[in-house]
Amino acid sequence: MSVTIIIGGQWGDEGKGKITDSLAVQADMVVRPNGSANAGHTVQTDAGIFKLHLVPSGILYTDCDCVIGAGVAIDPESLIEELDDLNKRGVNTSRVMISDRATVILPYHPLLDQLEEQSRGEQSIGTTLKGNGPAYADKVGRRGLRIADMTDERTFAERLRLVLAEKNKILTRIYGADPLDESEILEHYASYMERLAPHIGQAEIAVQDAIDAGKRILIEGAQATLLDIDYGSYPYVTSTSPTAAGACQGAGVGPGQVDRTIGVFKAYITRVGSGPFPTEEHDQRGEILRSRGKEFGTTTGRPRRTGWFDGPVARYAARINGLSEVALTKLDILDEFDRIPVCTGYRYGGELISNPLASALQYGEVEPVYEYLDGWRQDTSNAQTMDDLPAAAQRYIERLEELIGRPITYIGIGPSRSQILERGVAV
Ligand code: IMP
Repeated sequence: MSVTIIIGGQWGDEGKGKITDSLAVQADMVVRPNGSANAGHTVQTDAGIFKLHLVPSGILYTDCDCVIGAGVAIDPESLIEELDDLNKRGVNTSRVMISDRATVILPYHPLLDQLEEQSRGEQSIGTTLKGNGPAYADKVGRRGLRIADMTDERTFAERLRLVLAEKNKILTRIYGADPLDESEILEHYASYMERLAPHIGQAEIAVQDAIDAGKRILIEGAQATLLDIDYGSYPYVTSTSPTAAGACQGAGVGPGQVDRTIGVFKAYITRVGSGPFPTEEHDQRGEILRSRGKEFGTTTGRPRRTGWFDGPVARYAARINGLSEVALTKLDILDEFDRIPVCTGYRYGGELISNPLASALQYGEVEPVYEYLDGWRQDTSNAQTMDDLPAAAQRYIERLEELIGRPITYIGIGPSRSQILERGVAV
């Protein structure tokens, strides 16, 4: 048995796709447990750059099964687009399996996402507008439609009629928008389901069968710990549990079946959307991080907010997820700096605190306490081993390791598959 979870330790975009891709070479199956097309995982191979949204990053290996789990919210149109794009680029997608329990994003979900965001005004969350929040609200409110409901025409029509009547009231009476047409939705979604039919199945059974057969499974988390609905900077979060526990739930795996939980952290930190961000850097150095790190959203193209490595966030994520180890990405982006601030704690109300706060208002008021580490001002992107890294970069890694409280076993020094250094632990 071998199950590894890969989880984001910050506010997302840590490079989970790249780490999954590099471990998937040894995996038999990669499972995407939750989230929707709000996620964007970028993987760079010899065949070019792939931006994946719903399809697990293992798709780029010919013998790896890819599973979209029960916890995912699927927009069938965008999934079909993604599959077609991959096919056009010569990637075989017949190994993609979609859980029949996954919830479906319907046309009213992105519409409501947009209208709700508008009505929040200055308190808008900065969602990806993919319909993620409204779809999960429907799922939990038991108004959702699952893939399994939609593969049966009669069930689909009956369920949609009930739900759409309510949605159209909300659209027209609350937001003054146009109502949606039932027959149009039925027609479009029936054709989507026909196209996706060969991929649909009992994903959790496939995952459990793979575990029983001793196969190697990677669970590729989307979003990240500080975007978690319970442990993130609520309400500026996504609508799922992108933690290790949430990954188990979405993939249909028990916590006791997991062998490794790898947290992925950038060597600095970024955030898209609104909400507290204690170590955000507004000056020129923040701009350098953005341009060197190409920090623009994979899904939305929005410029990401940038800042310094946040020790309290990282330690919190290590504990909440029960991380066994850490992959540190984008170390090379720091190559230009003389001195690198690292946040070791926060000051709030005259006191020193060491954890993120539950109230977004209070968390937005904490002052980061920085320690300044020497930069290395040297190109690290060609290093072949840890020993090739400058001494100051090695000290930087060791200091982060102390702050996180877990061993750093992988270090990313560039976008390509070969630019990952392994450190001390057998895969
Ligand atoms: P939603 O998931 O589209 O509802 O957006 C809620 C919050 O999560 C917003 O701040 C988004 O920017 C953020 N978010 C959602 N998906 C990602 C991701 O893949 N990377 C980074 N941030 C994300």
